[in-house]
Amino acid sequence: MIIELLNQKLETVLKKLKYENHNFKIIPSNREDLCDYQFDGCFSLAKLLHQSPIEIGEKIVQAFYELPDFNDLFEKVELVKPGFINFVISESLINQFLQRMDTMAFLGIERPKKVSTFVLDYGGPNIAKPLHVGHMRTAIVGEAIKRIIQYMGHKTIADVHLGDYGLQIGQVIYGIKQDGISLERVDLAYLEKTYPRISALCKENEEIKQQCSEITRKLQEGDFEYQKLWKKICELSLADIKRLYRYLDVSFDVWYGESDSYQYIHKVEDILNQKHLLEESEGAKIVKVNQEEDKKDLPPFLFQSSNQTYLYGTTDLATIYQREKDNHPDFILYVVDNRQALHFKQVFRVAKKADITHSQLEFLGYGTVNGMDGKPYKTRKGDAPKLDSLFQQVKEIFKNKKESNQTMSEEDQDKIVNAILKFADLQNSREKDYIFDISKFSEVVGKTGPYILYTYLRINKIIKENTYKKILTGHIYNNYDRNLRIKLIALSTSLQQAFEYRMPHYVADYIYELCVAMNTFYQNNHIHTLEDENQKNMWLSLLELSNKVLKEMLNLLMIDVPTSM
Ligand code: ARG
Repeated sequence: MIIELLNQKLETVLKKLKYENHNFKIIPSNREDLCDYQFDGCFSLAKLLHQSPIEIGEKIVQAFYELPDFNDLFEKVELVKPGFINFVISESLINQFLQRMDTMAFLGIERPKKVSTFVLDYGGPNIAKPLHVGHMRTAIVGEAIKRIIQYMGHKTIADVHLGDYGLQIGQVIYGIKQDGISLERVDLAYLEKTYPRISALCKENEEIKQQCSEITRKLQEGDFEYQKLWKKICELSLADIKRLYRYLDVSFDVWYGESDSYQYIHKVEDILNQKHLLEESEGAKIVKVNQEEDKKDLPPFLFQSSNQTYLYGTTDLATIYQREKDNHPDFILYVVDNRQALHFKQVFRVAKKADITHSQLEFLGYGTVNGMDGKPYKTRKGDAPKLDSLFQQVKEIFKNKKESNQTMSEEDQDKIVNAILKFADLQNSREKDYIFDISKFSEVVGKTGPYILYTYLRINKIIKENTYKKILTGHIYNNYDRNLRIKLIALSTSLQQAFEYRMPHYVADYIYELCVAMNTFYQNNHIHTLEDENQKNMWLSLLELSNKVLKEMLNLLMIDVPTSM
């Protein structure tokens, strides 16, 4: 990675000056018109050493110039007031990294010294309940994180973790019994009507709610008849869930659900007992998870409620046990709604206290998708929109933008719908809420999916229309040329950030900035009127590499390019 190379040089310089290294780093420039990389550490060093930032900066710059390979690395290193150091890197360094990107697998991203195994828990759809916009977010954020981790050279196991044993199942079974409907006649349409109907009833009627819980409990205990109904419900619901994930190009290695963890609950209970962690409290079994350093009291973890049922936390704990046993992962990542942060904090504490896993457990919370009013996105009727109707809605808006959109193939339209939704979502830091403004998301200008697709198609056309020899490196002709090259070799930094923080928006930001650099390059450098053959070859080769990088990065965000737009 270029940034690592620069930081190695910084380390040499600081060591030579006998400045203690406080993990100061060279970072990508935020003033691309002035330099490629910058160092802001002079201010902290100044405080530590009781000298002025300028004094220190001068020494550092001087030491850089004294490096034996200075000329291979830099065009110039410059101190600017009040104490920043700006780095402009050399043409040969740019070209060296560009060459690497072009010829090596994974665009030259180094393979890890040690390959880690990551279990990813995302999607989390609930059987018999329709998927809504929040489920889309976990699915695409989770899938993007998975692809980024794979791209960095690690092993992943994606687990959908179905909500398949909750109260909603008892509610649907209650409905089936009440309606006196036979198993053969239960279909998806029936399920979609029944869950909301009985769920509403439960809110009004405590007795019905009790009955539904009772059915759920018996199901969990293995009641033969309920198990048969449950299997049918799962089958119908899963077929629909899989169809929606296929549409989004989201896939899983395992399709386990909460129900699959039940076989491990007793084992986990034994462990908790052995370690004297389980306590009785008003008929329930709990684990205290408070720690001294907590600022706020953490409520105890509920292992079993007073009416003998196991809860959401119990299944999550048993699932950790299951994953440890099956996969022995180094990391387990949960891409789940921010509002479940406390739940996972409790689960993780118990898992660590009981020592049922050696893996690092990470809660990767995501924010809410809001409507224009800033409140959770709802349909006009006031409920969370189902994914199908959301896809349809986006498609209609896109088709109405211009006439030619309407004659496009269905396949291309679906690719564009995907690009609109995914780029809109994944450009936000996953932790943040965002406003779902379909009209803005479907514009061809701005930071949108269509803008990105349009850039790719335009550049692709130029490459296809011209014949040229692949010559990527040589003398850099102008600043548009240079800026595009600099953007290309910055890829590794963005990918590393996306991986380290489990934040796909670093990739989305990179994609957007790359597209801007590509468009600026293309608009200002008139390739079709060029006389110089070498220049033409170089520029077309550069565009070819840019489009290759763009396509690979879009693939990390599950965005596929249509044939035309
Ligand atoms: N089914 C849950 C829900 O809809 C999400 C599951 C998240 N994953 C987990 N291991 N708890 O809220």
